[in-house]
Amino acid sequence: MTIAHTSSELSPELLNRLDAIELTDPLGFSKVMAPVMAVAYYRDGAWETPRLTGLEPMDLWPHTQALHYGQALFEGMKAYRNLGDAVPGASALLFRPFEHARRMNRTALRLGMPELPEQVYVETLERLVSAVDKLVPNRQGQSLYLRPTMFGATADLSVVPSTEFCFVVLATPSDAFFTAPISAWIERLFSRAGPGGTGNVKAAGNYAASFAAAAKLGEKGFHQLLWLDAATHTQLEEFTAMNVFVRRGDRLLTPPLSDTILAGITRDSLLRLGPTLGLDMREEPVAVDEVIDAVRSGEEVELFGCGTGAVVAPVELLGDDSGLRLPLPGREVASRLRQHMLDLQHGLIPGPEGWQWPVPKS
Ligand SMILES: Cc1ncc(COP(=O)(O)O)c(C=O)c1O
Repeated sequence: MTIAHTSSELSPELLNRLDAIELTDPLGFSKVMAPVMAVAYYRDGAWETPRLTGLEPMDLWPHTQALHYGQALFEGMKAYRNLGDAVPGASALLFRPFEHARRMNRTALRLGMPELPEQVYVETLERLVSAVDKLVPNRQGQSLYLRPTMFGATADLSVVPSTEFCFVVLATPSDAFFTAPISAWIERLFSRAGPGGTGNVKAAGNYAASFAAAAKLGEKGFHQLLWLDAATHTQLEEFTAMNVFVRRGDRLLTPPLSDTILAGITRDSLLRLGPTLGLDMREEPVAVDEVIDAVRSGEEVELFGCGTGAVVAPVELLGDDSGLRLPLPGREVASRLRQHMLDLQHGLIPGPEGWQWPVPKS
């Protein structure tokens, strides 16, 4: 089920804008935006066919619904340079794009927005990546980050859902998010998500709600917030944009999915890959104090985040505002999983059906 796009859909002007871009290290993140985006509007109860167009400012009324009531969502994906022989003929690879399409639609339904047919979602990403193939970096770990977004576009101050929506896909060549182990701040005051809320979908507002808590990270010298459950602040939930795994000896634990945890596609991939690598993967609640006690008692413990952006990010230091500063030396299994994921994503080793989605160059 691949959709081949062999000739460029771009205007001569856009081809010129694309030609003018030279990728130079460091790529960073969101520093160089692809000059092309995909866009489609939903009007009168139907999506129009997405089109590729130049990246330009958008005309929005100040009373556009998404700006006031947050009817907005996003997905995060990457196109990887195909560096191996596992997927012959592809210039770039998307990773499990239909899973992302399904998750976007779950978010859309939760926020009162229309679903986009999965095939249209994947085809749109293919067309965009194929058209800007030269912006897919060639080094393992680097990628063309893809940002599908949908928002309520009706200009109306009434607190009701939009009737018009905009679907946009942006692309930006990017470096690996983390190349060294990170530090994580256990958030014991604020909560990311509550039961019955929107924590299990990619609602834009979830991220805005994390910013006040995240403001302290810089001053404390920490990288990421590690969120606990809202009711008791004792159980691990996830990071702001990554799921969490804890290794205790032979067991790899991740909290079970709930309405407060996003069903990460990387999390799911690790749960499936683990057993093939001889790992004992378990979805079980993990109390933060048990992790701290286990580290202090000298048990072999690893803690890591996983997500499309970070792939797998080992945590080397846990902190909190009680003064905890707990080094975590272990990262052997996290590093192995990270490498395995990157090898799959770049087509160096074969993966399960549908995981390595080929995109030809246009
Ligand atoms: C809250 C949250 N948890 C987990 C993840 C990881 O999900 P995925 O592996 O699908 O990128 C993300 C990233 O999208 C996220 O925003």
